[in-house]
Amino acid sequence: MNLETIVFENNTLRIIDQNLLPARLTYITLSTLEEVITAIKKMSVRGAPAIGITAAYGLYLHAVILHNSGSLTKSAFLQAGYALKSARPTAVNLSWAVEKMIHAYLNPPTPNEVQTLSRLKAEAGTIHAADKKTCDLIGKYGAELLPKKVSVLTHCNAGILATGGRGTALSVIYRAAKSGSVHVFVDETRPAGQGIRLTYWELTKNNIPATVLTDSMAGLLMQQKKIDAVIVGADRIAQNGDTANKIGTYSLAVLAGYHDVPFYVAAPLSSFDMSLVSGASIPIEFREKEEVLDFWKIPDQDKYTVFNPAFDVTPAELISAFITEKGVIGPPYKENLTYLFT
Ligand code: MRU
Repeated sequence: MNLETIVFENNTLRIIDQNLLPARLTYITLSTLEEVITAIKKMSVRGAPAIGITAAYGLYLHAVILHNSGSLTKSAFLQAGYALKSARPTAVNLSWAVEKMIHAYLNPPTPNEVQTLSRLKAEAGTIHAADKKTCDLIGKYGAELLPKKVSVLTHCNAGILATGGRGTALSVIYRAAKSGSVHVFVDETRPAGQGIRLTYWELTKNNIPATVLTDSMAGLLMQQKKIDAVIVGADRIAQNGDTANKIGTYSLAVLAGYHDVPFYVAAPLSSFDMSLVSGASIPIEFREKEEVLDFWKIPDQDKYTVFNPAFDVTPAELISAFITEKGVIGPPYKENLTYLFT
């Protein structure tokens, strides 16, 4: 299936509204900075690379609006960048993409706003196109790690819906399925249900055999030796390899370690935050309690106290390898990542 999560054509930004999946595949148009921020916050668009790409186009569109009203200034542009960055704090791809747009805005400095706008448009397009290529390379390198007949467990959605291309973790699966046989066990991914709503939908649309399970069932599957590998995406990876990803990833990594199942993290270099020494300083987003309670139609919600972190951090020692567009990176991560980024 030829699916594009983010489409930018004729100066118009359209995204799949992922909150409507799997019931309806609907594109919505985002025209203003406020609409882009809301779409990111409400997870109409989600997944680390996808929110970065959407933010980049959003900044360009906002710059056009500012230009048309005669108010495109450095401070207005930086303010918009700041607002976008804080829409969701964990995925570093968002601030990475905003920083790239700020760099394109400022360099080289020119009084010609039309030139600046065309530079911003080109930069957003470059971020998008580069992510497509990155996804393909991740798929290629990752597939080389897997046996020809393989049963993989994944969590959340790190696929087409989360990126500008074929995904990260799911790109590995799509590539492996071309030359072998792959079955995917898909964690439901409570509370927002990215696995059951998005990954199961995406995989089956692409003819990949899949089975959905609730998150607490993964241990039994591993105990029964039904999983050959776990592959997940990432939202932010510190310089020592500690990795923030969707809540529940850490539990899976512990289970995989106990059962001797390889645990792979597939991620672009834009998901690495080499300014952080360890995962302890990765900012973790907490979401509203309704996300947990509404599913069960819990009444009197004001009486409930709810713990709802959107992400957790998996310690590096539980990760067998990182699959990136530059190849597969194994431990020792601090040394190998430092080498990769210098
Ligand atoms: O809250 P989400 O749905 O944006 O979380 C997404 C994830 O945790 C993904 O695994 C991660 O962003 C990698 S997407 C290639």
